[in-house]
Amino acid sequence: MLARLTFPRLLRHAVPSLGSSLASSNLPSIWHATHCTASARTAPATPNGSSESWVPSLRTSIEGHSSSVDPFALVGADLAKMTRSIRETVSVLQHPVLDGAASHLLSLQGKRFRPIMVLLMAHSTAMVAPVVPPRLLPSQLRLAEITELIHAASLLHDDVIDVADTRRGAISVNSLFGNQLAVLAGDFLLARASVALARLRDCDVVELLSTVIEHLVRGEVIQMKGGIGEVFGGIGDVTEQARDEQSSYHKPKTQFDAYIAKTFFKTASLVANSCRAVTMLAAHPKHVADAAYQYGENVGIAFQLIDDMLDMTASEDALGKPVLNDITQGLATAPVLFALEEFPEIGPMIDRRFKQDGDVERTLELVEKADGIRRTKALATQHVQKAVDGLVSVLPPSEHRSALINLGNFVLERQR
Ligand code: FPP
Ligand code: MG
Repeated sequence: MLARLTFPRLLRHAVPSLGSSLASSNLPSIWHATHCTASARTAPATPNGSSESWVPSLRTSIEGHSSSVDPFALVGADLAKMTRSIRETVSVLQHPVLDGAASHLLSLQGKRFRPIMVLLMAHSTAMVAPVVPPRLLPSQLRLAEITELIHAASLLHDDVIDVADTRRGAISVNSLFGNQLAVLAGDFLLARASVALARLRDCDVVELLSTVIEHLVRGEVIQMKGGIGEVFGGIGDVTEQARDEQSSYHKPKTQFDAYIAKTFFKTASLVANSCRAVTMLAAHPKHVADAAYQYGENVGIAFQLIDDMLDMTASEDALGKPVLNDITQGLATAPVLFALEEFPEIGPMIDRRFKQDGDVERTLELVEKADGIRRTKALATQHVQKAVDGLVSVLPPSEHRSALINLGNFVLERQR
């Protein structure tokens, strides 16, 4: 599906007022850039991608590991149990309207990338602790469910904020039931997740996942307000461990750092902390919990980078949600911020949130010129590589570890 798309077609789709000049210009190379899995080794970009000049063969696939394990199939049985459990968790309400709104989103399922990661992490870390039988604990399965519920709650609220009319290939809850019910359905899922979390009877895990909820809100507010200023606030009331791990996200110095920090709060924190929490439930040693966290953090950041890339390159049909949503909402994501390094004229357009006539079209043109799409994928690749290298250095080989590596690859190659 994606292979047939060209950038100008997307532009015409998202910006109907666009004149024929840009629509007929030759921009399809942006697609090739996105899908180029160059085998040539190149100098990697800096971690935030900000000071390295563009090179034509930026690496966009991870190296050094290959296996055919299917991450989705490997935890299929666990996922089926989780899905049943979610249904029970949600049906407690027995209120047809609110239940209908919450169930609408959950029944569409989505990629389930977050619970899959949590489940694979639980299985692969079980191999390192002789005190724990190498099996999935009920509390770990429950944690995968909690992660999915928190994610679903955040999507219900996000679609209200973004005024999105589609989600997961179907009409969004806000479009079907209205904003008020969509917000309340999100609150309801969050409440059910909180009850399930409390029932784990593990205060440290409760603290981690509660901090994640704060992070989701923080990330969303940073995104809404933009800039590198006061919106970040202090690091807040967190553990010493979190203070060390997250300090770089709280005082970003550049616009790109601010974008990565927002990405951590909005997307990566949930998977990073869920991966840490799932190892804590099995009482694994700290170095295992740390490796799990850094895997989730890096794959989480890569996931959002690819999400932001797909927002510019995929079709609404392929994604199942609106495209060019970020820039039309006034948001500058990685492809634009890479282009900004080469074309300072983008700066004022970012400042006015692309509101002037022609801003969106001109920015997209410059993104293509600066190879912003491929640079975004290359940065995502670096994060996945870091995640995988960290994991491999701590966990013994296993099918589930291979599946986590493949999950990283899936994040890079996904087209929806
Ligand atoms: C999707 O972003 C949104 C998120 C990852 C987080 C949204 C968080 C909130 C709305 C804060 C409230 C949180 C809770 C737990 C109720 P996106 O718009 O970039 O992605 P999309 O294209 O999938 O919509
Ligand atoms: Mg959204």
